Amino acid sequence: MNKVIETSDLVKIYSTGALEVCAVDHVNLTIEQGEFTAIVGPSGSGKTTLLNMIGGLDKPTGGQITVDGVDITTLTQKQLVDFRLRNIGFVFQQYNLIPVLTAFENVSFIMELQGRMKKEIDARTKEILSDVGLADRLASRPAQLSGGQQQRVAVARAMASRPKFIIADEPTANLDSKTTEKLLEMMLELNQKENVTFLFSTHDQRVMNKARRVITLEDGRMV
Ligand SMILES: Nc1ncnc2c1ncn2[C@@H]1O[C@H](COP(=O)(O)OP(=O)(O)OP(=O)(O)O)[C@@H](O)[C@H]1O
Ligand SMILES: [Mg+2]
Repeated sequence: MNKVIETSDLVKIYSTGALEVCAVDHVNLTIEQGEFTAIVGPSGSGKTTLLNMIGGLDKPTGGQITVDGVDITTLTQKQLVDFRLRNIGFVFQQYNLIPVLTAFENVSFIMELQGRMKKEIDARTKEILSDVGLADRLASRPAQLSGGQQQRVAVARAMASRPKFIIADEPTANLDSKTTEKLLEMMLELNQKENVTFLFSTHDQRVMNKARRVITLEDGRMV
């Protein structure tokens, strides 16, 4: 098996005044290519902190994070920006689409930043938006789409450039239960079709039930 992510003794301590919070406490985690894994745990257990560090959005206090053999904790800020752009897809709870861009443009934009050829970008954008069931909404802006449709655009955007893995922090938190179910089915299909690795956090029991592996955090520790 091919290890995509490996953390060793990963620690994050937040210090605010006299208060020190150990948000992530010596986490040793290995994620293989093609996993569909949920991180669960009570509010404040460290899910977001862990995902942000693995995604290179936040720096650890201690330990290592290896992505496809590269220790990302040693990268400079500039190298990290480039690394994220080329290797990691993000899906956020609030969708985070760009309001003035259409669904097509929201998805193609990342590949443009990567400097890919226009023909390739156009074909891939149409393919992935069709895979998420939005072939007929290419020209719609986020405000013209439902929450579930916006999150499908966000998943398409994260998948478009075939990243090594996708990180999703509570991707269904703003969706109703039927839409949650549909989004999860769609993510699973993409996971199987393209063998892309998904790592997502959730509070929702139905979302946990769809995961192939569940990692539980309590007070920053894996249990
Ligand atoms: N920027 C910060 N400064 C100080 N403390 C923080 C910061 N971010 C998070 N924390 C603390 O770190 C701990 C873990 O927070 P985190 O957001 O990772 O939890 P979570 O599991 O994602 O919670 P939720 O389910 O509510 O999203 C909490 O005690 C939180 O208060
Ligand atoms: Mg969180």
